[in-house]
Amino acid sequence: MNGKRLKLVGGLAVALTVIGGLGATGAAAAPGAPGPRYTAGSQGAGDAYFPYSGNGGYDVSHYDLDVTYTPPAAAPAPLEGRFEGVATIDLVATQDLDRFNLDLRGMEVSSLTVDGKPARAIAPPAPGAEVDGAAYWHVQDDEERIWELTVQPRPKIKKGQSVQLVVEYGGTTTRPLDIEEAPYGWWTTRDGAMVVSEPDGSMTWYPVSDHQTDKASYSFAITVPEGKVAVANGVQSKPEQTAGGWTTWYWDAPDQQASYLTTASVGDFELRPTYTSTSGVPIIDAVDTKITGNALTNTNASLGLQPQMIDFLESRFGPYPFNSYGSIVDNDSVGYALETQTRPVYSGSAGQGTVLHELAHQWFGNAVSPERWADIWLNEGWATYATWLWTEHRGGITAQQAYNNWYAPARTPAYWSFQIGDPGALGLFATQVYNRGAATLHALRVEVGDEAFFAGSRLWLERHNDSAGTAEDFQAVFEEVSGEDLDAFFQTWLYDQVKPPATWTLP
Ligand code: ARG
Ligand code: ZN
Repeated sequence: MNGKRLKLVGGLAVALTVIGGLGATGAAAAPGAPGPRYTAGSQGAGDAYFPYSGNGGYDVSHYDLDVTYTPPAAAPAPLEGRFEGVATIDLVATQDLDRFNLDLRGMEVSSLTVDGKPARAIAPPAPGAEVDGAAYWHVQDDEERIWELTVQPRPKIKKGQSVQLVVEYGGTTTRPLDIEEAPYGWWTTRDGAMVVSEPDGSMTWYPVSDHQTDKASYSFAITVPEGKVAVANGVQSKPEQTAGGWTTWYWDAPDQQASYLTTASVGDFELRPTYTSTSGVPIIDAVDTKITGNALTNTNASLGLQPQMIDFLESRFGPYPFNSYGSIVDNDSVGYALETQTRPVYSGSAGQGTVLHELAHQWFGNAVSPERWADIWLNEGWATYATWLWTEHRGGITAQQAYNNWYAPARTPAYWSFQIGDPGALGLFATQVYNRGAATLHALRVEVGDEAFFAGSRLWLERHNDSAGTAEDFQAVFEEVSGEDLDAFFQTWLYDQVKPPATWTLP
C-alpha cells in the first residue's frame, strides 16, 4: 500500500489504515464493552487479484435493476449509448455499519436513499474526517482500479438488519476493453449492448458488490426503443410492454447468481419460442437477426443440441442447477463467449463445442463459483473437460485421446512454467488454464478412479451449491471420496512449473 494510493482514496484511507488490508472490517469492540460498535464495511471482498472488487460488512440478497437504454445512432455516430438506471438493492448487514461501499465504474449517481431516507452527495472527505448525517461519495480512479461508492447511512445500521438501498445513476456507455483486452461490462454495440462482465465488469452498469462471494437473486426491467429486444438472466416475468415508442422487457432470475454472470443484452434479436430439455428445463434463445448464411446454420445446429447436452451433463453431474436456460447470439465482436447464468452470450455464431462449454459452466463456475479468482482453473478446466467427455459421448475421440493430444506435443518452457493454480489477474484466461486445467481433471480421474471421480464431482457440486469454493476445498472433497492424500497430485498439476512427469492413462 503506497502513499499515493492512500491519498487517492481519500476518505477511504481511514479503513485502509485501520485494517491494514482489505479483508477485515475495522476495530472490534473491547471485551465486555457495552453496545454496538459501528465501523466501515471493507471496500474489497479480499480477492488478491482484484482487491477492490466486492465489499464487506453486508450481504446482498436481491438486485432489482430498472434500466432505460438508448443504443448508439447509426454510423458514423460514435459507438456510445445513453444509460439511465435505478438499482433497488436489498441487503443485510453482517456487522454494525457506520459506512459501507458498493462498486460502480464510469457512471454518475444522481440520488441515493437508504430505507427511503435520502443521503446527500458530497466530495470524498479527507482521511479520518467526520461526516455529518446521511451522505454518499464516489471515488473513481481508473489507474489504480478503484471504483468505490461509499454510503454513510443515518441512522447507522445494526448487524442483522435488512435495508433497502435505491440508487439512481446513469452515464454514457462505451466499449471498455479490460482484463486480457476482452469486452467488459455494458459493451456497447451498434444495435444495442452485449453485456459480458467476467471478472469484475458488472460495476460498469450497476452499483454492486462485484465479487462471487456475495451472490444474490435478480430482477430486471429493461426499457429500450421499440423494436429492440432486451434479454437478461432467467425467465420473462411478464410480457414486454410497449408505450410511446419504448418497450420494457421484464426478466426474473430467482436463483443465487454471481455478479459477473449477470447480463441484460440489447439488440435486434429474434426471441425464439421456448422449448424444454427432457428434464423440463425451459430453453429460451435469442439470435441476432443480422446473423445469416453459414453462421446461422451452425448456430441453429448447435442450439438444437442444447436439450441433448443438458441430458448428457445431467447424467454425469446431476440436475441442471437453475430455473431456465438458453443462448444469446449477438452478431458483434466475433470470438467472445461468456457463460452468463442461465443464458450464455456468444458473438458471431455459436459453435457446438463452445455451446457445450458454456452449458457446462452452469454447473462448474455458476452453481459453484471460484471463491478466489486464482481458482479460475476450476471453471475453465471443468468446462473444457466437459467438451472432452461430450466428444467421446458423440462418438469422437475419447477423453483419454484428447488428453494424449494435449500431452504429446513438445511445448515451450514458458507454457509449462505457467501455474494454473495462481495464474495472476492477467492470466485468468490463458490457454493453460483451459487445457492444463482439463488435463488436471483427467489425471485426477486416472488417479482416483472413475467411481470416486464422478462421486467427487457431484459431492463438490452439492456441497458448494449456490456458493463458492477454493482449490483446497476441491482437494478435500476428492480426498474424502478416494481416501487418498492428494497433496502431491495437486502440487504437480496446479503449481509445478514443469511438464507433469508421466502420461496418465485410464485402465
Ligand atoms: N469464461 C469465458 C469462457 O468460458 C471466457 C471469458 C474470457 N474473458 C476474458 N477477459 N478474456 O470462455
Ligand atoms: Zn469457459
